[in-house]
Amino acid sequence: MHCRRSMKRYCRKEKMIRIYKAHNYDDLSRKAANIISAQVIMKPNCVLGLATGTSPIGAYKQLVEWYKKGDIDFAEVRTVNLDEYIGLDGSHEQSYRYFMDHQLFDQVNINKVNTNVPNGKAKDVESECKRYDALIDSLGGVDLQLLGLGHNGHIGFNEPDSAFEKTTHVVALTESTINANARLFASKEEVPTRAITMGIKSIMMAKKILVIASGADKADIVNQAFNGPVTPSVPASILQLHGDVTLVADEDALSKFCRTI
Ligand code: GLP
Repeated sequence: MHCRRSMKRYCRKEKMIRIYKAHNYDDLSRKAANIISAQVIMKPNCVLGLATGTSPIGAYKQLVEWYKKGDIDFAEVRTVNLDEYIGLDGSHEQSYRYFMDHQLFDQVNINKVNTNVPNGKAKDVESECKRYDALIDSLGGVDLQLLGLGHNGHIGFNEPDSAFEKTTHVVALTESTINANARLFASKEEVPTRAITMGIKSIMMAKKILVIASGADKADIVNQAFNGPVTPSVPASILQLHGDVTLVADEDALSKFCRTI
């Protein structure tokens, strides 16, 4: 009995992460958009967990294109975003609310009332975290969570050594994340030092997870996250324990991936 159970677990582990190798960023974006639109077609009122960063821009662009052609309908879709900088309001160009509005929400027929991003200007950020957790619960959880990968393996803003059991919480950004994101601000000093992020536990509670990674600069972390040990020092490595993860990465991002795929 014990053997059969561990074998089952082993088998499940083997098929837990589907990996799609894309030729390049455009191909990656199309593949990711296909997976997202399949979710919307299968469940028109689904809850999409969405991400910011440069990685998903192409996928959002593709979704907008398909929406304009009449191939996808966002009328009933609900969304929750992973994270937001503390101190930026939605009209700030580097806020994640602004990003989402411009890259996706304002260009499709989604009802803005059904789009959710943590409020980075909340007076009481701890209460905002609790409100966000309750909101996700009230929506029935996330059907498909989209994730990018930070260079240090962060997902959302869960930096290395984050506790795996946290839901939405306040984080202090690491120097490396501040440096990486400084390219988007006028100067490094303008990058907020704190953020509200869905936690690893919140992410792991999503029914399905889609990770996208592009470029040679992500090759090391893709390999560590999906081939290395599961450890809080590489937050994305926890995804190896989720039952339904798809990784779409381009050839450059998979160039150090050791497994044969
Ligand atoms: C930010 C975001 C993450 C994102 C990561 C990677 O820090 N909080 O959600 O995945 O950056 O960004 P990029 O896709 O630009 O490499």
